[in-house]
Formats: sequence, structure tokens, C-alpha cells
Amino acid sequence: MAKKLFWLFVLVGVCFGAAGAALSAVLLTQQAYAPWLSLLLGLLLFAALLLLAKRLSAWLLSPLVDMAKDLDELEKNAPYPELLPFIETLRRQQVQKDENLRQRQEFSANVSHELKTPLTSISGYAEMIETGIAKDEDVKEFAGKIHAEAGRLIDLIRDIIKLSELDEAEPGEEMQPLSILPIAQDTAGMLAFNAEKAGVDISVSGCYAQVLGRRELLEELIYNLCDNAIRYNRPGGFVRVSVTEDASSVILSVADNGIGIPPEHQERIFERFYRADKSRSKSSGGTGLGLAIVKHIVIQHGAELKLESAEGKGTTISVLFPRIS
Ligand SMILES: Nc1ncnc2c1ncn2[C@@H]1O[C@H](COP(=O)(O)OP(=O)(O)OP(=O)(O)O)[C@@H](O)[C@H]1O
Ligand SMILES: [Mg+2]
Repeated sequence: MAKKLFWLFVLVGVCFGAAGAALSAVLLTQQAYAPWLSLLLGLLLFAALLLLAKRLSAWLLSPLVDMAKDLDELEKNAPYPELLPFIETLRRQQVQKDENLRQRQEFSANVSHELKTPLTSISGYAEMIETGIAKDEDVKEFAGKIHAEAGRLIDLIRDIIKLSELDEAEPGEEMQPLSILPIAQDTAGMLAFNAEKAGVDISVSGCYAQVLGRRELLEELIYNLCDNAIRYNRPGGFVRVSVTEDASSVILSVADNGIGIPPEHQERIFERFYRADKSRSKSSGGTGLGLAIVKHIVIQHGAELKLESAEGKGTTISVLFPRIS
């Protein structure tokens, strides 16, 4: 590329030089016709330069146009070595776009499936009541099931809206210094009834270290982690929420001694709709989106996630927030 540009400039320079020399020669020798001749020569020169510029730019751009025809083979079709970094960026963006598209398609397919299940069940119970197949004494039970399934749909839609809001938000938006401990205490308070029902003891301890955050997102994050720690536990189990700090981070940990997560599922539980314990998740009204929301919130806060879990022994999920400098 650089060489071609060099020769292009040389060529344009030579043209200008030659034209200038010719023009001055004419002006000196044919003084009577000088104005007309110089105008004519000027116009001719201008037209020639336009043509030359058009040809040269087409010649310079043609390898780029060829390259754009086959974006899959960008590296192979690289016309100039100087373009390799640009090609690498293009390729990376293309891979990212393909991945985003794949995730969106998978997400839509999953959403449709998850919406269909409760709706089918609502429709089935409603039809039994409508046609009189349901006996009078069953009506109350069926209405309860319709109510529960409608609740699942509302939860699902709420989580989907939350995820799309998080998808759109810029990391670090509207953050302010906040102490995590009181938020954890409030959130644990909201779940105290669920914990008691499940026979699980929930406690919160730690320091008042501050992080840069958004309160409602931190509440959501702690709620989801504690909700899981209660839901995937056993009667007599515990959930311990702690806030600690070290030289570089403020660490929020939610530890339980519940059912644990088998190693083969550990990599995937933060994916949308992924459930390790499908039956327990579904029977307790889980949407499979809780940890995907957690992951997004962690990214928003520039924090880091750590998971430790042993099947049958329990799970600890820690979020390492950067310290406020
Ligand atoms: N503390 C935990 N102990 C054991 N398994 C867990 C724990 N937390 C999460 N899991 C597993 O990870 C899966 C994904 O959790 P996630 O919170 O995303 O979805 P969910 O709990 O099924 O539904 P919801 O969207 O209502 O939270 C769960 O289905 C469960 O199998
Ligand atoms: Mg959950």
C-alpha cells in the first residue's frame, strides 16, 4: 500500500511538472494566443488529472473491494500487510456479531419454550373448568394451579425485562459509594420467611466496606444468591452471607451447606435458562435466569465471580468488587 501511494505521488508530481513546463513554454513563445491557449491547456490538464485520479483510486481500492466480497477469508485476501490489524479487528467484530446472533436466537427459542409450558397448563385447567370436566370440588385446586402458573409467567417476564435492561446499560452507569452489609441485611430479612419455611438458618456478618454500585442491582444480586442458597438446601441447613475486604477487593460471599453443584454443571450455571437441578428449580418456580442476572450485575460493577461447590456438601459464590481508590 505504502509503495503504491509513493508511486502515485511520483506520478502526479511528474504530471504537474510536465504540464507546468509545457504551459510556460507555450506562454513564452505564443504570446498572442496565450490566454486562450493557457485556458484550453488548463482545461485539458484538469480533465486528464480527473481521469487519472479516477483510474488510480479504482486501482488502489480494487483489492479492498475484492477483500470485502469474502469476509470469511479476510486474512487470506489481505491485499496489503498494513491492513492486517484492521482485518483482525473486522474479523473479531464479525465473530462477536455471529456469537451475539447465536445467543439471541437461542434465547428466543428458550423464552418461547419457557412461556409455552405454563401457558399450556393454564389453558388446560381453564378448559377443564369451562367444559365442566372439572368437578365442583376440583375448581378451587385448578384455580390455584392457574394462579401459580400465571405467577411463574410474571416472574419469567420480569426476569427477561431485567436482563434486557442490563444488556442495554453501560457498565459503571449511575454508580455511587455504597456499603454492601446493610443491603445484605435487608435482603436477608426479605428472605427470612422463605428460609424459615425451608428450615434453613440465614445469617449476615462482616464489615461496612464501601463499593461503587447501584443499590437496586446489588439487592437483586444478593437476593438471587441467597434465594438459591435457600432453595437448593436441606432442612437444618444454613446460609451465611459475609462481607470482607482485602488489599484489592471487597468480597461478598454467600455460602450454604446445601445440595451442591456437580462439577459438570459448574461452568454453565451462569448461562440463561441453564439449570443443574431441573426438577427442584421447576417445582419451586425457578426460571433459570437468576444467575444470568447475577453475572450481568457483576459485569456492570466491574467485579469478579468465584464459585466453589462440592456435590452434597454445599456451595459458596463470592463476588469480588474493586475497592474504591
Ligand atoms: N447455591 C446453590 N446450590 C446448588 N445449586 C445451585 C445453587 N445456586 C444455583 N444452583 C443451580 O444453578 C441453576 C441456575 O440457577 P439460577 O438461579 O440461574 O436459576 P433458578 O434458581 O433455577 O431459577 P431463578 O431464575 O428463579 O433463580 C439452578 O437451577 C440450580 O440447579
Ligand atoms: Mg435462582
